[in-house]
Order: sequence, then C-alpha cells, then structure tokens
Amino acid sequence: MNSAPPLSRPLRKAVLPVAGFGTRVLPATKAIPKEMLPVFDRPAIQYVVDEALDAGIEHIVFVTGRNKGAIEDYFDRAYELEVTLRDKGKTAQLKEIEAPIRPAGSMSFVRQQAALGLGHAVWCARDIVGDEPFAVMLPDMLMMAQPSCLAQMANAYAKTGGNIIAVEPTDTPELYGVITPESRDGRMIKMKGMVEKPKREQAPSNLFISGRYILQPEIFDLLASQAPGAGGEIQLTDAMARLMQTQSFHALEYEGVTYDCGDKLGYLRANAAFALANAEYGARAAATLRDELTKRS
Ligand code: G1P
Repeated sequence: MNSAPPLSRPLRKAVLPVAGFGTRVLPATKAIPKEMLPVFDRPAIQYVVDEALDAGIEHIVFVTGRNKGAIEDYFDRAYELEVTLRDKGKTAQLKEIEAPIRPAGSMSFVRQQAALGLGHAVWCARDIVGDEPFAVMLPDMLMMAQPSCLAQMANAYAKTGGNIIAVEPTDTPELYGVITPESRDGRMIKMKGMVEKPKREQAPSNLFISGRYILQPEIFDLLASQAPGAGGEIQLTDAMARLMQTQSFHALEYEGVTYDCGDKLGYLRANAAFALANAEYGARAAATLRDELTKRS
C-alpha cells in the first residue's frame, strides 16, 4: 500500500445497482423489480435510500435495467393518487407517498444494458459520478444500524480517506466476497486482499463484504479493463483488489445487523426484523408473529 489519494474528498454520491433480475425470489419478481418488494410496510429500496440520506448523500445514481420503471415512478410524484388522497382528506397517507420524493435533479438513472456483473453495473455510473469518491450500496442487503451502516463508514472515511468497505462475520463465505485481514484497530481492519466467492475451505477469513462501499473514482479505469471473474462476471471485488495495490483500503466491521434479502428466507427474516423494529407496529407485529407460530406448533 502506498500513495493514498487526497484524504477525504467529500462523499456526496451513492450508486445503487438495481438492474438484477431477482431470480432467487421468483415468481414474485416476474413482473415487478425485486427492489420494490415490500419489507414490512415499504419497498426494500426505501430503506437503502434512507440509509444513504442518513449518511449525508446528496445524489443517488440508480443503475437500472429493463422492467425497472417502477423504481423511477416510486421516487416521482403520483398526481392522481395525490389528488385523490387530498380530496378525501387522507393527509397521513398523502404524507407517506410524498416522503420518497427528493429535490429535483438529485436522482439519476442509467441503464445497464446487459447483465455482465456488479463491476460492470458500477462502471455504468462513471460519467454521472465523475471524478469524486462515491458510495456503492447493494439494495439486496438491508442494514439495521444506528447510525446507519453508511453513516458509520462515512465517519470512518472522514478520518482515514481512501477506500472503505463494510464487512461482517458469516458462516457461508463461499456465497460472498471475503477479505484477508492484516491488522485491526477497533472496528477498522487493514486489509491484505480480498477474493470473490472463494471455495469454502479456501476462504481467507469469515469476514464477508456486506454490500456497502466507499470508493475512489480511480476504480472506474480498473473496471473498464477488468476481466470476468467468478461466475464469468465482471466483479467489483477483483477491481478493488487491484485498486488496493495503489490506494489505502480498509474494512469496517460496522455495528449492526445485515439482512440478506437475496433469497426467500432472507426476505422473510428481513420482513420480521423490520416489522418488529417499527416504532408504531413493533409490539403488535411481535404479538402477531407469536400468535401465528403458536397456532402452528
Ligand atoms: C455481491 C458482491 C459480493 C458481496 C455480495 C453482498 O455478490 O460481488 O462481493 O459479498 O454482493 O451481497 P452477489 O450477491 O451479487 O453475488
């Protein structure tokens, strides 16, 4: 590790890759984007956008694809619905549907035309991100944390600059990107390397890359020339492993819990967890879940 980039250029933008087909949650995702599936009372994507805003992100870049139009619509006005709710005096619901709308010009949408991998999806955002550091947030992964996962990373970034990825222990490293730690200072881990979806017995640690990244823009040139890796896809992990040769790279074992909504049971768990954590419904959600389990035992 040598020449680190200028320390802590401000972090303003987040890239959310939302082009995936959601094959592990079919048939639910046959006709609607998986990011729009509800986790308790709102679409999964709303939690990720809220996390970004909590970390001070000003501009969100969605890397989208065909059949993902519902995501754009969700963050836009819904005039007919608004007028109807207003006419009926349903002000609470009106507030709820207006909440996702951000200031004009603070969201961009760019299409990934072919499913070539996460690295390629991030590369599709290069022109919109430009020459500044940015966050990547994988919307399959919902983080329950206070402050939010990305806010914890942004705090760490303000001190160390460079590149930072969130990690967490796992029993199934073969499903994820996994880091090789070098040394540790509290929750900050200096890294020696990382590998995408290692064979279980070859995993360099049990710390998996949990889907939140703060990256320097130099990653884009590396992604442009990145050969396909695991699964025949252009992997972000492979480009990061190369960037690590020239820039400072840390992993942060953040304080909180990650819910992997990538499959059906993960979705179920996230639904239960976010319902239970809901300020208004939590207690009733617990009673409802308990009741359902009792009935079946
Ligand atoms: C992607 C990343 C992987 C990371 C994972 C987290 O994999 O490539 O490094 O650990 O997200 O969800 P995917 O889930 O797209 O296979």
